[in-house]
Amino acid sequence: MFDTLPMAPPDSILGLTEAFKKDPNPKKINLGAGVYKDEQGNTPILASVKEAERRLLATEQNKGYLPIEGHVEYDARVQELLFGPGHEILASTRAVTAQTPGGTGSLRVASDFLKKHFPMARLWHSKPTWANHGAIFSAAGIKVEVYPYLDASGRVLDFAAMKAGLAQIPAGDVVLLHACCHNPTGIDPTLDQWKQLAELVHERKLLPLVDFAYQGFGDGLEQDAAGLRELARPGKDLLVCSSFSKNFGLYGERVGALTIVAGNADAAERALSQVRISIRTNYSNPPTHGAAIVAMVLSDPQLRKQWEGELAAMRERIHKMRRLFVATMKSKAPQHDFSFLSSQKGMFSFSGLTNMQVDELRAKHAVYVVGNGGRINVAGMTEANMGPLCDAVAAVL
Ligand code: LMR
Repeated sequence: MFDTLPMAPPDSILGLTEAFKKDPNPKKINLGAGVYKDEQGNTPILASVKEAERRLLATEQNKGYLPIEGHVEYDARVQELLFGPGHEILASTRAVTAQTPGGTGSLRVASDFLKKHFPMARLWHSKPTWANHGAIFSAAGIKVEVYPYLDASGRVLDFAAMKAGLAQIPAGDVVLLHACCHNPTGIDPTLDQWKQLAELVHERKLLPLVDFAYQGFGDGLEQDAAGLRELARPGKDLLVCSSFSKNFGLYGERVGALTIVAGNADAAERALSQVRISIRTNYSNPPTHGAAIVAMVLSDPQLRKQWEGELAAMRERIHKMRRLFVATMKSKAPQHDFSFLSSQKGMFSFSGLTNMQVDELRAKHAVYVVGNGGRINVAGMTEANMGPLCDAVAAVL
C-alpha cells in the first residue's frame, strides 16, 4: 500500500539537526534548531534541574497517570510565571492551564480546540514566523493567513504595516503573536507598541493566541512577559502556548502548557472541559517527569533562585555572542553591516542570507543555518567557532 507514497522533504529545522549529525566534517557548526549551547558547545542540563531530578528520584512513589490536564502544581506555577503572582486573572480564577508535550503540543491542542468550537475562525500569523506554525494550524483544518511584520530591508519591524494588517482582520479570527524573542527574526515590538497592539486586538474583537517559548531569553522573566500582560485585559479572552524547552533546557522532556484565559471562571472551566477531550483523543494525558521538575524548581525558593541565575547566564552569553559576531564580521567583511543583530532578542536572528548562500554555507563550510531568510541560532555561537563562522559568512557574501 505504501509503495507509491511520495517521499516527504526533511523538516526545515529538525531535519537540519539530523543532517548535521551525519556530517563527517570535524569543523562543522550547527546554528540550525533553537537549542542553547554553552561556551564549550554543549547543551547542558541545568544544575537546578539535576538537583530537582535527584530529589524526585529519592521521593517518587509511583508512575501513575497524571490528570488529563497534567500536574496540578505545575499548572498553577505556569500561570504565576505568565501573569505574575496576585494578577487579577489568577485571583478571579478565569485562567485554566493544561500541561502539554512541549510548546508544539500546546499549539496543536489549541488548534484542535479552536477548529472544533470556532470552525470559521482563521488563524493569522506574522510573515515570517516559525516554520511549523502554519503547518500545525493547517493540520487541524484551520485556514491560515498572514499579517506583515518586517519592512523591505528585512531588519526592522514595520509597525505601521503590522497594525494596518491587523486592522483588516475580521472580528472572531485568531491572531498569533510571539510574546518575546520573535522566531525567526529576533525583532520584538516595544512596550509602547504592545500597548497599541493590545488596544487594536481588543477593539477589533480578535482572539489573541500568544506563543511564549522563550520567556527569560530576551530581557528577563518579568520584562519578557510585559507584552502578554498588556493583552491580558479584564474580562477578555486570551490563549497562551508556553514552553520550558528553552528556559529550563528541557527540550527532550517535552514540557509545555496551554493556558486559556476566559471572561469569567465558569467560561474558563467550560473551555478546560473541552480541552480535556482534545487531549484525551490525542495522547490521553501528558508525561510526568519534566513537569514534576519544573513544578519543584519553581516552588522551592532556593532552586528557583538557582534556576533564575542559570537562565540569566544563558541570556547573557547569547547577548555576548551577538556583540562578538557583529564585531568579528566588521573586521572580516566591513562592507556588510551586521550591527542590527545587537538589538535583537532571544536565540535567533534573521541574517538576510539568500537560500543560495545558506546552501553554500552548508556545502562548502559545514555551517548549518535555516533557509528562507537565513535564520541563525546565535545560541550556537561560541568564542571558539566565531572566527571560522565569520570567515564562512564573509566567503559566501
Ligand atoms: C526552533 O525554532 O528551532 C525550535 O523551536 C525547535 C523546533 O521545534 O523547531
